[in-house]
Amino acid sequence: MSDTRVIAVKNVRKSYGGFLAVNGLSFDVDKTECFGLLGPNGAGKTTMMKMIYGMAIRDPHSDGSISVFGYDPLYDELKIKNLCGVVPQEDNLDIELNVVENLDVFCRFYGMSKSATRDRIDYLLDLMELTDKRDSKIKALSGGMKRRLIIARALVNQPKLLILDEPTTGLDPQVRHVIWNKLRAMKKLDMTILLTTHYMEEAFQLCDRLIIMDGGKKMMEGNPQRLLKDNMEHYVLELKSAGSFGKVEGFLKETAANIGSTTEAATKEGVTDKAGNDEGAFGEAVNAETETDETETIEAETDEAASKKAVIRVEHMEEIVYVYSNDPEVLQKAVCLLKGEDYYLRQSNLEDLFLKTTGRALANAQ
Ligand SMILES: Nc1ncnc2c1ncn2[C@@H]1O[C@H](COP(=O)(O)OP(=O)(O)OP(=O)(O)O)[C@@H](O)[C@H]1O
Ligand SMILES: [Mg+2]
Repeated sequence: MSDTRVIAVKNVRKSYGGFLAVNGLSFDVDKTECFGLLGPNGAGKTTMMKMIYGMAIRDPHSDGSISVFGYDPLYDELKIKNLCGVVPQEDNLDIELNVVENLDVFCRFYGMSKSATRDRIDYLLDLMELTDKRDSKIKALSGGMKRRLIIARALVNQPKLLILDEPTTGLDPQVRHVIWNKLRAMKKLDMTILLTTHYMEEAFQLCDRLIIMDGGKKMMEGNPQRLLKDNMEHYVLELKSAGSFGKVEGFLKETAANIGSTTEAATKEGVTDKAGNDEGAFGEAVNAETETDETETIEAETDEAASKKAVIRVEHMEEIVYVYSNDPEVLQKAVCLLKGEDYYLRQSNLEDLFLKTTGRALANAQ
């Protein structure tokens, strides 16, 4: 293992009965990286995290392995626990105890002296802006305060690896931004962070690298900015009704054919669908005349290079229609045809890529 690698997960599986919650997952996390596990409900994120800190046991098979600071959670759970802080998905504060007492119990667990405990608790309450709540009952705390207290509790032992399972779910934007800033500060203190979140903005802001998983499998891995750049058209025009789309459809088909020689290609390189095919998740590349139910790709080959294609991708989600392209001018021109109809023209974001990768429809597991 390299000196800088904190977590190494290789071909790990976890089944419950006959159901595979994690299915052959592999990834590495380097020192001081913030690494994200993204995926829809039921994707296997929490299960994967639990296997890392020894709360769940991976399926035994010869080539599956997990290493955390060089330790295997199957055999060295306690050593790993001493190096980690964990913020679980569910709030699990002791409601019989007040704020200070919840931290105190953990300090005692780690065998800290009375004076070290006092200093550490003061420091953590200050860090998480909870000093004036130190004697409050847990019931008297807001959701944001509870979450900050759980993060403070995870930091009691000065962990080298902080594991956060949806740290900001249900919190208002102010609290979320406060927590993001705290986490950025942790990284500067040489801490490695493993994070799950359903907030794509959170992943985009915090993660150096991430994986998008679905059905226990990895769909995509990389730096969020890079993933977006490589796998997503840069702009999207959201139309609120099929009627609005009808007003621009002819123009888009015509324009895609006309701009073929001047527009940069929108490629699908590096993106795979759930079946591992190169195109299926987003509809096959089709001619302007051809349509699929949910996704169509309008394209024109250039004269110079058949491999360079001007592509406008259209996705229908019930009444809403999404028109994606790398060319903002085409979308601007389409907007001019809308005459008072509702629309939203914007840059694409990680949420678009997430939905492109995992699909917009609910799966059974969700
Ligand atoms: N103890 C368990 N017993 C049986 N099935 C389980 C157990 N824990 C998780 N599962 C199943 O494994 C799958 C993955 O669950 P997991 O909690 O890891 O998903 P997740 O990605 O964290 O989802 P969410 O975003 O909703 O938190 C789900 O289908 C879930 O029902
Ligand atoms: Mg979870």
